[in-house]
Amino acid sequence: MTPDPILPEEFAGPLAMARERLGIFTHRVLWYSDVGSTNDIAGTLADQDSAEGLVVLADRQTAGRGRLGRSWASPSGAGIYVSVILRPSAAAARLLTLAAGVAVTDGIASATGLSAHVKWPNDVHVGGRKLAGVLAEGTATHVVLGIGINVQPAAYPPDVAARATSIEAELGRPVERGLVLAECLAALDSRYRELHETRGETIVESWRMRAAPMLGRRVEWESAGERHTGLAENIDEDGALIVKVGSERLRIRSGEVRWL
Ligand code: BTN
Repeated sequence: MTPDPILPEEFAGPLAMARERLGIFTHRVLWYSDVGSTNDIAGTLADQDSAEGLVVLADRQTAGRGRLGRSWASPSGAGIYVSVILRPSAAAARLLTLAAGVAVTDGIASATGLSAHVKWPNDVHVGGRKLAGVLAEGTATHVVLGIGINVQPAAYPPDVAARATSIEAELGRPVERGLVLAECLAALDSRYRELHETRGETIVESWRMRAAPMLGRRVEWESAGERHTGLAENIDEDGALIVKVGSERLRIRSGEVRWL
């Protein structure tokens, strides 16, 4: 699918201003005013050997996807819908989605001053409501990281309004999408480098600090058709959630956990 020829000034301006901090994301941004899913476009391009750092950005998605097979509402102008191609080392891939959650939280804070927190594994929340999410899809050679951020309340449908929020609803003022995107990409580049330069301890530590309101709370999840509950204590060095059940500690690697 062919991208639109001109990146709107709303994004081009802030990306140019942040150019020196965008690192691997400086070179190529493909803009679509209307697309199925930016993750699909980025995945196809990654399969065709597109370089790491390619950014696929859309104003609107008609088949936006979330984690666990859910859909991601993506109406025009109301959110940020972006996917990037990464080619991490095996060690860096381990903590990539946690690093992305931290980067999005920090990018939103730098651009707008809004303080959000991460919810395992990589959701971004404010006051118990979801503000942004990350969908990582990969093969042996690449990871496509898709990021969806609710900028305006119109980004999410009324049936999730009790569980969702947006940057503008939280701040009570308009926010520039381009600025939020530029700061999130700058933060993502920095965290991605950190993942390769360290063994990931600082990412885990940053994640824990930004997850403070969620840790120590009861969670519920399903496994083999049964419902379990426990106390979410921490994450380990591999990014698994450590849940205390009675006197035992369980590691949850993936799937859905509900905070009670
Ligand atoms: C989640 O379920 O929390 C993850 C949501 C990820 C949504 C983004 S929007 C850009 C990219 N393209 C998609 O189809 N999904 C991701």
